Amino acid sequence: MTGLAVSSMNDSTEQALENRLLAPRFYRTNYDTLNKLDVTPVRAEWDEMMADFALDKNREHFKRRFQFDETSLDERPALKADFLDLLVSSITSEYSGCVLYQEIEKHVENKDIADLMRYMARDESRHAGFINLALNQMGVAVDLSVLKQKKEYHYFRPKFIYYATYLSEKIGYARYITIFRHLQRHPEYQFHPIFNWFEEWCNDEYAHGEAFALLMRANPELLRGHNKLWIRFFLLAVYSTMYVRDHSRPALYEGFGMDITEYDYKVFDITTEISRQVFPLTLNTDDPRFRRGMDRLLKLSQKSDRLRAKGGVTGALGRAVVAVQSALTFAGLYLLPTQSNELPEQTRVAPAW
Ligand SMILES: [Fe+2]
Ligand SMILES: [Fe+2]
Repeated sequence: MTGLAVSSMNDSTEQALENRLLAPRFYRTNYDTLNKLDVTPVRAEWDEMMADFALDKNREHFKRRFQFDETSLDERPALKADFLDLLVSSITSEYSGCVLYQEIEKHVENKDIADLMRYMARDESRHAGFINLALNQMGVAVDLSVLKQKKEYHYFRPKFIYYATYLSEKIGYARYITIFRHLQRHPEYQFHPIFNWFEEWCNDEYAHGEAFALLMRANPELLRGHNKLWIRFFLLAVYSTMYVRDHSRPALYEGFGMDITEYDYKVFDITTEISRQVFPLTLNTDDPRFRRGMDRLLKLSQKSDRLRAKGGVTGALGRAVVAVQSALTFAGLYLLPTQSNELPEQTRVAPAW
C-alpha cells in the first residue's frame, strides 16, 4: 500500500469517527426491556418473516464482485469527494446497525429477539463489508474494528431504538430504491457499479423495518398517548437530518442527474406511505410551511458550517445564536398539524416501489 493510501485510510476512519450532529451514531440500550418483548400478538406474521430471514435469499448477492475503473472519477473531483463522503457515512450507519444488533443478541435470552438480531446483524455486516470493497478500490478504507472500539456510544431508551431504527431502515429502503429506479431509467448517470446492488440491498433494509413494525404493533402502548409525541419527534428529526445532509452533497446529486429537493420529497412520500403500517400519525410534507421550515433549517446549518470554518470567539458566538434559531425552527415544524392514521389489520406490506 502506498503512503497516500495509508494516509487516506486514516482520514476516512477519522471522518467516520467524527461526532458531528448529523453523523450516524453508535447506540447502547436497556437490554432487559428488549429481553421481555413478547411477539405473541403478531405471532403468525412474525413466524412468516423469520422464515424469510432464514431463507437468506441475498446470500450470493453480496459475494458477486464488480468491475470499476477507479480513475474514472478523477476528472470529476467534486463528485468523487461527495461520493466518498456518502460511502463513509453509509458504512458508518450500516456498521452502527450491525454492532447494535450484535450487542442486543449477546445480551438477551429471548429466542425471538436473539434470532432476529442475528439475522439483521448478518445483513448489515455484509452491507458494510461491501461498501468497504468499493472504498478500498478507490484507495480508502474505514477500519471497522477501530470504529467499534473508539466511536462514542450513546444510550438510547428501547422505545427510541424502535422508532429511530424502524425509520432509518425504511427511509434507507426508500433512498436506495429511488436511486436504483432513477438509474434504471437513466443509465447514463450511473457513475459507479455499486448502484446495481441497490435493489436487493434495500429489500434487506425493508425487511429489517418490517421486524420493528411488528415489534411495535405487538406492543401497542408504544403507539398511543404521549408516545405519539415521540413518534412525531422522530419523524421530523429523521426527515430534517436527511434533508440537510443530502443538500450538503450537491455534486453527488448532480452526478445522478437528480434534483436534491425533489429526490428528498419523493423519499419522504415513500417513507410516509410505508409508515402507515405502524405509526398513528404522519407528517404533511407537502404543507408549504413544512417546506419553508426545512429550507430554513438547511440555511441555518450552512451558516453554522461557515461560522465553524471561521473559528474564534465571533464564530463560536455566531454558532450559539444559529443553534437557538435552528431549535426554534425545529419547534415550529414540530407544531405543524399532523394527519392521523388508522392502523391496518395486517402489519406487513410488500415492498412495491
Ligand atoms: Fe444495511
Ligand atoms: Fe438494515
